[in-house]
Amino acid sequence: VSPSRDDEDAVSLARLTGRRAYSMIHTTHNGGRAFDIVVPIFTGDRFSGSVTVTIALTAMLADAVPWWIAEQHRISFVNSAGTTLASKSRVETEEAEADYTLAFDPPGHGLYLAIAPYRTKTSLVHNSLVVAIVVLALLSCASLLVAYRHMRGRIRAEEMTRRHSEKLARNARLITMGELASTLAHELNQPLSAIESYATGCLNKLDSGDYTANEMRAALDKLSVQARRAGQVVHHVHEFVSRREPKIGVVDVAALLRDTLAFIAPAARRYDVTLQSEIADDLPNVKADQILLEQVLLNLIRNGFEAMVETPPEDRVLTVSVMRREGGIEIAVADRGCGITPEIAERMFMPFVSTKPEGMGMGLNICRSIIESHRGRLWTTPRPGGGTVFAFTLG
Ligand SMILES: Nc1ncnc2c1ncn2[C@@H]1O[C@H](COP(=O)(O)OP(=O)(O)O)[C@@H](O)[C@H]1O
Ligand SMILES: [Mg+2]
Repeated sequence: VSPSRDDEDAVSLARLTGRRAYSMIHTTHNGGRAFDIVVPIFTGDRFSGSVTVTIALTAMLADAVPWWIAEQHRISFVNSAGTTLASKSRVETEEAEADYTLAFDPPGHGLYLAIAPYRTKTSLVHNSLVVAIVVLALLSCASLLVAYRHMRGRIRAEEMTRRHSEKLARNARLITMGELASTLAHELNQPLSAIESYATGCLNKLDSGDYTANEMRAALDKLSVQARRAGQVVHHVHEFVSRREPKIGVVDVAALLRDTLAFIAPAARRYDVTLQSEIADDLPNVKADQILLEQVLLNLIRNGFEAMVETPPEDRVLTVSVMRREGGIEIAVADRGCGITPEIAERMFMPFVSTKPEGMGMGLNICRSIIESHRGRLWTTPRPGGGTVFAFTLG
């Protein structure tokens, strides 16, 4: 609720004192009198807004004063000048001498509750006065509570929206990596096919025995130019990855892992893989670049999925575990996939080494660069019972 001029003071007061504050009596858009109760909301120590509840005096009397009291008494709010601001009575015009007046909470704003019996004074007056006040107080508390709940819900919804857009930004970043990969493949296609045709040409010449050293040299020169060009493209990728503004911050690894698993869950369903996580509960926070860390996890998890396509569906379980380790943490991604043959084990961290028909072969290379730039270590071991474990440390 945005503050009107009337309760700006009350908002400042609420903000300053950290307690609820009351506005002056003011006139509402439909001509009635009302006052506002302002409750400040703090997120930690930071003032993040306030809830304002407007209590309309007439409506309050109408709702809160039971008919059996109104039957016999005129109950009204009067200001310090004696002007009636709102009242509930059986007969509107009937004048009655106020018998009891009582300063009403909020004090200090000159609001009084006046009650005047129409007929005889009885002890009922006293009781009804008490009842009326209690009911009024309850009513204002109840409406405040409702408004407060509503506001809390809204704050929570806003928080969710904010987190969601952060997530979108992050996903956009991941998509950029994907796009980068396809651009790269495109860029590399040309030099690689040129290299292949020069190499084939040279081989043919060699086989035919009909060649001169100069011819061979010229072809090999051109080949090496193309290879250099390919090398430059790769170099650019590395630069792109490492030159990204490093955003080293304190990372809650458990939360990051949960986010990542949630992000990858749809892919897991497509691969028919069950995701498991084992998160130790004494984890220290680590200093790292959150987005790059996620990138590593996603790459390793995806590799795990891809390694399990031949695994019977009931065995396709991928487990990500985080545990404490001296000086930091260790994260492990374990699959039940095809395992790694010694030949590929030697080369799989090199760029463009892939055994997959559509594979880029950049994933592990990027993962290792990222982990090493965090002064961690990335390694792999066979998993007992079949499959592979990729593990890395972070300090
Ligand atoms: N979890 C795994 N299980 C078995 N082999 C793997 C695993 N992860 C990676 N590899 C091997 O390492 C190669 C390189 O992986 P990577 O660099 O991510 O490139 P890509 O996934 O594009 O092939 C893969 O082609 C595969 O042969
Ligand atoms: Mg990969």
